[in-house]
Order: sequence, then structure tokens, then C-alpha cells
Amino acid sequence: MSILQVKALNKAYPGKVITHALTDINLNIEQGEFVGIMGPSGSGKTTLLHMVSTIDEPSSGEVLINGSNPFKLRTKELASFRRRQLGFVFQDFNLLDTLTIAENIVLPLTLDNLRLSEMEKRLGKIAERLNITSILNKRTYEISGGQRQRTAIARAVIAAPSLLLADEPTGSLDSTSARIVMESLAGINEQQGTTLMLVTHDPLAASYCHRIVFIKDGRLQTEIRRGRNRQTFFQKIIDTLSLWGGSMNEFS
Ligand SMILES: Nc1ncnc2c1ncn2[C@@H]1O[C@H](COP(=O)(O)OP(=O)(O)OP(=O)(O)O)[C@@H](O)[C@H]1O
Ligand SMILES: [Mg+2]
Repeated sequence: MSILQVKALNKAYPGKVITHALTDINLNIEQGEFVGIMGPSGSGKTTLLHMVSTIDEPSSGEVLINGSNPFKLRTKELASFRRRQLGFVFQDFNLLDTLTIAENIVLPLTLDNLRLSEMEKRLGKIAERLNITSILNKRTYEISGGQRQRTAIARAVIAAPSLLLADEPTGSLDSTSARIVMESLAGINEQQGTTLMLVTHDPLAASYCHRIVFIKDGRLQTEIRRGRNRQTFFQKIIDTLSLWGGSMNEFS
């Protein structure tokens, strides 16, 4: 079953000169898939994620999540639809400094009127999975960048969304933390069966995906799939980037 269907999607930003950020995008993501989106700066990756996450509306075309079109919902329904169906992870973590790590993670659940014992049960499970149990009582400024990003992932998945959207989640991390974050995301995908859509510039991060879709000048160019071996996939990603992107510099 498709979790996400993007059909003939176009997005133009008005201005002195109209920017055609996305042109005729068609993309299906199946339940349980882990899909990467790669492309040069300005190619439309974040715009695509914003259309899927309902942050911004397409100029034309359709986005279906679990078969329904979120843009047809009323504001109140949309808010609960987003909370139930979608999780978000960003490059800069977006955690609240005044709360503890545990409070940050359970924040989305407090809107659902869950019992405290149920919240604590879910918190314990997700913290263990992301290996952040020992820092739950700390504040955001007392933990590392990698730990902050794993906290943000825990917050994004604690309500068990159908689709987790991540925009450059390893963009501000060193390579070791980036690897741990990617392993955490791959683990969430495997163990919880959460469907993932990840935007990244980093071929190593991308090598954790099952499939990578390449976008350039707002159009889908090509896609590649991972076989058994992540190392082989990593090389294939680098080859595809240089083929479709011209110089690799454009990508970093
Ligand atoms: N709110 C906006 N208003 C006008 N133009 C925009 C807006 N957001 C993005 N754009 C333009 O749309 C195009 C696609 O931008 P987008 O942010 O999707 O690129 P990206 O692939 O995410 O790039 P990066 O890798 O640098 O994050 C760019 O030309 C950008 O300048
Ligand atoms: Mg972007």
C-alpha cells in the first residue's frame, strides 16, 4: 500500500520573476520504505518536503497521505491529521531549551490526553531504542549534537506516525554522530516499520536508504535502489550524483 502518492505536482513561487520550484513531480512511497531525496542546492527538495508535510500548498497537482488529501481538510482536522500521520525532523533539532529531554520527547503526546503511565511506557521504550535513556533528565544545552538529534527523532516518532519526514537531519553533525543518527533512523524504520522520507546532501547518510530519488531544477531525474550491500550503494550514489549533478561541489 502507498503511504504517499504525489501526482503531477507543481509549485511556483510568485515574485518579480516566478520561481518554478517543482515541475510535474510524480512519486509513490510504499508502506515501510526508506526513501532518500538528493539534488543540488535550490533543486526543490525542501519545497517537496513542505508540500508533503502540508506546511505549504502545491500550485497544482495532488498529495495523498494514506489515501487522503490533507489540503481538503479543515484547519482543525488538519492539525490532528498531521499529529497522527506525520513526524518531522529538521537540521537544527528544534528542541525547547526550557524543557528536559524527557519533556521535549513527550510533548506531542500531551495533546492527545494520554494517561501518564502510558506516556512513560512509550518514553522508556523509544529512549531505549535511541540510546538516550541516561540523558532524559538533562536539558538541551547539556547534551551533544548527536544526542539532540536522537531526542528530536524520539519526539517525532513517539506518536507512531505513518510517515517520518527528515530534512538534512545530519547536516549539522560530525561524521560519527551522523552515522549514529542514520543507524537510529534505519532502526526505527526496521523495528517500528515507520516509512521514511529523508532529504540529504550526504552520500553516506543516503546509503542507509532503500531507494534514492534524484531531483534537479525541480524535476525528478532518476532513481536508484539499494541491493544487499550498503558500501556498493554508497559508490552508486556518488556515481549518480556526478552523472546528474555535474560537479560534486554543487551538492555540498
Ligand atoms: N518561500 C519561497 N519563496 C520564493 N522562492 C522560494 C521559497 N522557498 C524556496 N524558493 C525557491 O525555490 C527553489 C527551490 O528551493 P528549495 O528550498 O526547495 O531547494 P533545496 O533543494 O531544498 O535546496 P538546499 O539544498 O539548498 O536546501 C529555489 O530556487 C528557492 O530559491
Ligand atoms: Mg533545502
